[in-house]
Amino acid sequence: MNGMVRSDRFKALVVTCENGDTRAEIRQLSEHQLPEGEVLVGITYSSLNYKDGLAVAGRGKIVARYPHVPGVDFAGKVLHSSSEDFHPGEEVLLTGWGVGERHWGGFSQRARVRSEWLVHMPAGLDAKRAMIIGSAGLTAMLCVMTLEEAGITPDSGPVVVTGAAGGVGSIAVVLLSQLGYEVAAVTGRASTHPFLRELGATQLLSREEMSLPPRPLESQRWAGGIDVVGGVMLARVLAETRYGGAVAATGLAGDAMLTTSVMPFILRNVSLRGTESVTTPRPLRERAWSRLSELLPQKSYQSISKIISLEEVEAAARAILAGEIRGRVLVDPNL
Ligand SMILES: NC(=O)c1ccc[n+]([C@@H]2O[C@H](COP(=O)([O-])OP(=O)(O)OC[C@H]3O[C@@H](n4cnc5c(N)ncnc54)[C@H](OP(=O)(O)O)[C@@H]3O)[C@@H](O)[C@H]2O)c1
Repeated sequence: MNGMVRSDRFKALVVTCENGDTRAEIRQLSEHQLPEGEVLVGITYSSLNYKDGLAVAGRGKIVARYPHVPGVDFAGKVLHSSSEDFHPGEEVLLTGWGVGERHWGGFSQRARVRSEWLVHMPAGLDAKRAMIIGSAGLTAMLCVMTLEEAGITPDSGPVVVTGAAGGVGSIAVVLLSQLGYEVAAVTGRASTHPFLRELGATQLLSREEMSLPPRPLESQRWAGGIDVVGGVMLARVLAETRYGGAVAATGLAGDAMLTTSVMPFILRNVSLRGTESVTTPRPLRERAWSRLSELLPQKSYQSISKIISLEEVEAAARAILAGEIRGRVLVDPNL
């Protein structure tokens, strides 16, 4: 801190709930109000995810206790640390672990967290890039790694990505196409077709056609799939997956339920693999971050992001719940 005394006061978006009435407002807080943890971080950027939309709106039972500071991921600099793993001035990032849900999160100028939740900033990234990637990008990378583990290579055939214009989907499209896979993108918004082509999708499919209830087995189209939608769309992806293919399921943007037959599994050796990024162990998490840093091209950092202030979070949260957000929204708490 260059010998300067740091003020104990800072700004955060605080969500309260009284008699079922949820409100989000900007408040001045003091460091002593922050939850316990070994590391105090000065936040440079956070990002807006679907779960944050739910938390700000008081929906989906995302928030454990009120008052609450949402924001499931953040990146910034260590201000104070009682952990040997982190030192003041080091750049760090955090995604998952219930931060922004059970623990106060990133829609704030400061956060105090447990050291094991933090990751040192990987080489080649900074706070802004890390948050353009965010939980959504980490999840997308882990889904790609899930397909790789299942033996799906670019030579296996096309990979379909659902919810492709959203946070996880758009980064999955970029990563797959950078790795040389042929990518088919499913979106409900025809207006995003040029954007998805720019990211590397070569086939575009409508949400409508992929939401038709499938027969137990359909024509074999996909070597693999990354699904953020769930429900009928996931059932259709499974029914259309080629012999020996694999599907990584990671979201429920459409429906949490899945009704399918066993036919893709027992007649085509298709595997359905769950992928989560919230409590991913640190070694795998670090491997995924370092691959993200290598794989994402410079131009993708511009085309998929927009920056908003804490004051603008409430409106953006409504938009993400309404499915109106394209790509990634960054939150700069210092704006
Ligand atoms: N398992 C994990 O660890 C993990 C981590 C991160 C996220 N997730 C989950 O992954 C999902 C996507 O997250 P995200 O941050 O990418 O959200 P997002 O930015 O809102 O993207 C979701 C996309 O899904 C599509 N979609 C939305 N509603 C739909 C519907 N009713 N039917 C069909 N498609 C629909 C839309 O894509 P188009 O506009 O292109 O149609 C939307 O952009 C969420 O369910 C989230 O909870 C899970």
